[in-house]
Amino acid sequence: MNGAGSEPPLLSSASNLLEARGHVRLDSCHQSGTPAAWNERYSTRGMVWGTEPNQFVAAFAVGLSPCRVLDLGCGQGRNAVWLAQQGHTVTGIDQSKVGIGQARRLAARQGVRVDFVLADLEADWTPLPEAFDLVVLSYLQLPPETRRTVHAKAAAALAPGGKVFLIAHHSDNLEHGVGGPPYPEVLFDEADLAEDFAAFDVMANEKRYRAVEGEGGAVREAIDILLEAVKPAQHTP
Ligand SMILES: C[S@@+](CC[C@H](N)C(=O)[O-])C[C@H]1O[C@@H](n2cnc3c(N)ncnc32)[C@H](O)[C@@H]1O
Repeated sequence: MNGAGSEPPLLSSASNLLEARGHVRLDSCHQSGTPAAWNERYSTRGMVWGTEPNQFVAAFAVGLSPCRVLDLGCGQGRNAVWLAQQGHTVTGIDQSKVGIGQARRLAARQGVRVDFVLADLEADWTPLPEAFDLVVLSYLQLPPETRRTVHAKAAAALAPGGKVFLIAHHSDNLEHGVGGPPYPEVLFDEADLAEDFAAFDVMANEKRYRAVEGEGGAVREAIDILLEAVKPAQHTP
């Protein structure tokens, strides 16, 4: 596994470049994360990260036995649809009406069923307790209080023995990486995740590096954080 000090792999691809372009600087973090801002981004920029799954989600989930998967902040559905294609029973939730519409159309095009739900994870969504075997969070960048609330809900949605898989932009990305939101308040690190998932058995909580090709072919590295953790049989939130 790639820790902070180990040699980062160069994984340059078109989808890595796309991954760096998801966020647009607006007036404030608050504004950039609203449903209206995501609706605008999704309706003016097509499939922002393409239709293929995120590389880390795919590497983690390839070959996984079919199970009940919940994709929180599923956006335009690239991961949820791919997970359904792998035989999983998938629910995807997002606050963006445009994103959910695009996700539904992607699922229809690929001939898979995904339960896509339009909801604000903090305000509208109450998780069905212990209803999922895997919760996926892919670049869901939230301010600390919201993040803690949503991560607690993710934990509640997992059955005992179920896994959380999270990939996101690391706090260090702002100064030392490339792409991602330019707002420190929605970035987080290993210590934050250790706290959020303190009751879990943690298999990985560490940086991952993504090679991103910029204008003119120059390659830079984005710094992500990856968490893989199991909800123990006796879980006390
Ligand atoms: C960077 S995108 C990632 C989309 C997708 N997970 C992917 O990797 O392609 C973040 C997504 O989180 C959603 N989101 C942010 N805050 C949310 C909230 N409070 N409730 C529901 N969705 C939220 C946004 O609407 C957006 O679609």
